[in-house]
Amino acid sequence: MMNEAIPNLTAFDEAALDKAFASLEAQARESAAALDVEAFRLKWLGRKQGLLNEVSDGWLKAAPGPAKKAVGQRFKVLKELVEALLEGAGPTEAAADAALRAEAIDISLPGTRRLTGSEHPITRTLNEIVSVFAALGYSVGVGPEVETDFYNFECMNFPPGHPARDTQDTLVVAAQERKPLRDRLLLRTHTSPVQMRTMEQQPPPVRIVIPGKVHRNDAADATHSPIFHQVEGLCVDTNITFSDLKGTLDHTMKALFGSAVKTRFFPSFFPFTEPSADVQISCIFCGGKGCRKCKQSGWIELLGCGMVDPAVFAFAAEKQSAYDPKKISGFAFGMGVERIAMMKYGISEIGSFFAGDMRFLGQFA
Ligand code: PHE
Repeated sequence: MMNEAIPNLTAFDEAALDKAFASLEAQARESAAALDVEAFRLKWLGRKQGLLNEVSDGWLKAAPGPAKKAVGQRFKVLKELVEALLEGAGPTEAAADAALRAEAIDISLPGTRRLTGSEHPITRTLNEIVSVFAALGYSVGVGPEVETDFYNFECMNFPPGHPARDTQDTLVVAAQERKPLRDRLLLRTHTSPVQMRTMEQQPPPVRIVIPGKVHRNDAADATHSPIFHQVEGLCVDTNITFSDLKGTLDHTMKALFGSAVKTRFFPSFFPFTEPSADVQISCIFCGGKGCRKCKQSGWIELLGCGMVDPAVFAFAAEKQSAYDPKKISGFAFGMGVERIAMMKYGISEIGSFFAGDMRFLGQFA
């Protein structure tokens, strides 16, 4: 096979031969500068496809009789050149230097800057709430986001068909009609089911906070998102009273929003607490004087709470008999993390937390 690098010789006069060999010599010098010794040897002196073999077969042997001598002389010169080049083959110092420089690291260039990660404002707020309770001796619990109808509703004293269920527009898992209602799966609408999961696992006393993600089939607007986060709290022991609840939440609101904040408890309803209350804090924007944010009332509603309903303890007592409502009592509360974060950081669109815009998130770094 003819090596591609060797053109066919068509003319054998002196001038044509000089030109052909001169071009090969130049090529040999070039490869000697570029290749390492072994690659150069293979290319020019290789037994099978070395270029000198190609020249010998293609030019010398093929030369017509009268031209053989002229080709042979020049071939000899070329061969000596190649052998001489082999001795000193390898990139010249300058070429080697240039190659090194191309690969080298220029330590004077600025490096690739990697953004430092930071906590998402929701995670940060959630952790802050949890640490307020950790300091009060609460532990942290978690539960599943895909929950059964029993834990999300029934054991929290929302009986099947009860209108209180309509207050939490629920996303349910499809095609479960063959299961009994209590086993059907849904996306939990609140973190309250983890109250029951905790009580089933441990007898009183219980002091626990439960941070987590919840889902509701609510249309998104400035203050509603179908996915949001809550921190649930549950405290059960002997002689837990409403004043313990008030003191605990008053302390928490002061820890989160500053010691000047006042709290007030407004009658409310939740199926799993009795009595129930909404907690309001004095408006942190106007100090309680009345402004647009608090609709001129001076107060902002922030969370729900109440004394654990005896019916809830009755469900817990099925697994842990110590939850006897005649002997123990407790309080529970649940707060929305987004709402608290929006208040703390003055954010007016809940969607900002979920849009993934670095210009927004970077401000919390
Ligand atoms: N689970 C209630 C909600 O999501 C909040 C709450 C929790 C109220 C605990 C009282 C006690 O609206």
